[in-house]
Amino acid sequence: MNIFDYHDATKHHYHRSAKSLGYMDWANQPEPFRYFQGRPPIHLPLLEKDPEADYFDLYLRENNTHKPFLLENIAGFLELSLGLSAWKSVPGSRWSLRINPSSGNLHPTEAHLILPSINSIDSGVYHYNPFLHALEPRAVFSGNLWEKIEGHFQAEGFMIALSSIFWRESWKYGERAFRYCNHDAGHALAGLSFSGNLFGWKVICLTALSDDNIETLLGFDKTHWHHMEKEHPEFACYVFASSKNLEQQNVSEDILKDFSELEFFGIPNRLSQDHYHWKNIESANMASKKPLTPPVQISFDDKPLLQNAHSKLPAAKIIRQRRSALGFDSEGSVGFDQFLAMLDKTFPRNNVAPFDTQLSFPRVHLLLFVHNVQGLNQGLYFFFRNTVDKDTLQSATRLDFLWKPVEQDFPLYLLEEGNFRRKAARVSCYQEIAGESAFSMGMIAKFRDPVEKNPYLYRHLFWETGMIGQVLYLEAEAHGFRGTGIGCFFDDAVHDILGFSDNQFQSLYHFTIGKYFEDRRLNTLPPYYHIEHNRAGGD
Ligand SMILES: Cc1cc2nc3c(=O)[nH]c(=O)nc-3n(C[C@H](O)[C@H](O)[C@H](O)COP(=O)(O)O)c2cc1C
Repeated sequence: MNIFDYHDATKHHYHRSAKSLGYMDWANQPEPFRYFQGRPPIHLPLLEKDPEADYFDLYLRENNTHKPFLLENIAGFLELSLGLSAWKSVPGSRWSLRINPSSGNLHPTEAHLILPSINSIDSGVYHYNPFLHALEPRAVFSGNLWEKIEGHFQAEGFMIALSSIFWRESWKYGERAFRYCNHDAGHALAGLSFSGNLFGWKVICLTALSDDNIETLLGFDKTHWHHMEKEHPEFACYVFASSKNLEQQNVSEDILKDFSELEFFGIPNRLSQDHYHWKNIESANMASKKPLTPPVQISFDDKPLLQNAHSKLPAAKIIRQRRSALGFDSEGSVGFDQFLAMLDKTFPRNNVAPFDTQLSFPRVHLLLFVHNVQGLNQGLYFFFRNTVDKDTLQSATRLDFLWKPVEQDFPLYLLEEGNFRRKAARVSCYQEIAGESAFSMGMIAKFRDPVEKNPYLYRHLFWETGMIGQVLYLEAEAHGFRGTGIGCFFDDAVHDILGFSDNQFQSLYHFTIGKYFEDRRLNTLPPYYHIEHNRAGGD
C-alpha cells in the first residue's frame, strides 16, 4: 500500500465512512496515560507563577527573557505545553483535559526528553507523564555524552521528541486514526514552541533525522512493548536560547552510536487487554516512514504581525484556558480586525513562534466559510500561507470564482458570496459547529507532488495542519471566542466545492471559530488537584 492508497481508503464519503468498528468497545478503552514502570518517577514542581508575557509574546521573541535550563523551568515548559488543563466531571464520570487538544480527547501523543544533568537528576532519557507531572527515567548516560550533544548543537539546551500510540486513536476511529495522530502531534509541536517561547527558548525540529534515528535516541528499539501499543516516533527537537541560531538538524553518527549502546529501563503499562488490529495503519506508517535526509534551511517572510487587534489576556492564561467549543451562537460575530489578526498569525515568519520550528516550507492554505464576520459579506474565501501556490491553486479551482482581494497586501480573496452555513456543516460530517460559528474552514494542502516525491511529507502536512489549528485555538481564546478542530469531514465533498478534479491539492483538516456556548452541566476541577490532594496527605 502506498500512502495515497491509505489516504483514499480513509476518506469519509456521504454514504460511506472510513473503516472503523462502528461501535465503542468500552471493555478495551485504552488507559489515557502511559507509565514506564520500574524506577521511581521524578516529580516536577508546578509553576508558582506563570511567565510574564502578554498576547503578542506568544509569537514574538524579543520580550521573553531567557530562563536558565533548570528543572523547574523545564517543568514549567512541559506544564504549559503538554500538562493537564482541567478535570471535567458529571455524576459517575471524571476525565482530564490537557493543554494540547486531541481528537476524541484520546491523546495518542507521548513526549520523551533527553536532558543534561540538572539539579539533582542524572543526564539521561526521560518520559514525561502529564498525569503525575513527572519524569520517568528510561536511561542514564555520562556527562561526556551530554557534552558531545551540546558540542554538536553548539548551544546549551535539551532535546524533546514526540511519539504516537496509534491504538489510542484507532480504538475509536479505526483506520482514519493515523491521520488524527499526526494532527495531534502537530498541535503538540506548536504547543511546545509557544510554551518554550515564554521561557525565552526556541524549539527547532531536527528534520534531517530518520524515524529509526529517533527510535535509537529514545530506546524504542529496546523497549518491550505490549502488542499493538508501541510508540512510534514523530519528530525530535532541540530546545535552546531564542537569541541563538541552530545550524544542525540532525545528530551525529557518533552520538547515535552511543545511544545505541545505552541500557534502557522502564516497562510500559498495558493500555488495553485486547485490540483490533488495523493493518492499514501499520502500512501507512511504513509507507510514510522518514529516512535520513539532508538538512534544509527554510526561510520565511519577515513581514511584521498585524497589530490592529490586541488581547488583554496574558499569554499563559490564553494557553491554559484553551478548550474546544461544543456549540456556537450563530448570532455572535467576529470583528473584521480580529478575523484578519487570526489569519495573519497562521502565516509563517522568521523568528516568530510557532512556525519557525523549521518543520517545512508551508504547503497548507485555508478555504474559509465566512458566516458572521463584521464588515465582510458572507461567502467562500481563500487565504494563502505562502506566496508561490496562488497560480497553481487558482487554475485547479472552478472558473467562476471571483478571486477578489479583500485587503491590500493581505493574501485573502473572496471566491463567492453567499450563505455557506449549511454547506459548511454538511461537509464537516453534518456537525453544526462548522455552520453555527462565525467562520469555519478546510485546510487545503499542496499534496500530490510533494508526497509523491517524499512520502514522509504526508505526515508533515498533517503536522502543519495541527500547528495551524493550535494557533487558531489560541487566537480564538485571545479574542474572547473559542475554536474546535474538526477531523471528521467528507474529503471529496470539500474538493467538489472548490472544483478540484485530481489530488494535486487535498483538504486535510477543518476548524471552526465563533461565540461559544458553555456546557454548564459539567463540573470543573483544577488540573493538578489530584496531586495537590495527594501531597496534602489525602487518598
Ligand atoms: C485533530 C482533532 C480533530 C478533532 N475533531 C473533532 C470533530 O470532528 N468534532 C468535534 O466536535 N471535536 C473535534 N475535536 C475536538 C476534540 O474532541 C477535543 O480537543 C477533545 O475533546 C479535548 O477537549 P479540549 O480541546 O477542550 O481540551 C478535534 C480535535 C483535534 C485535535
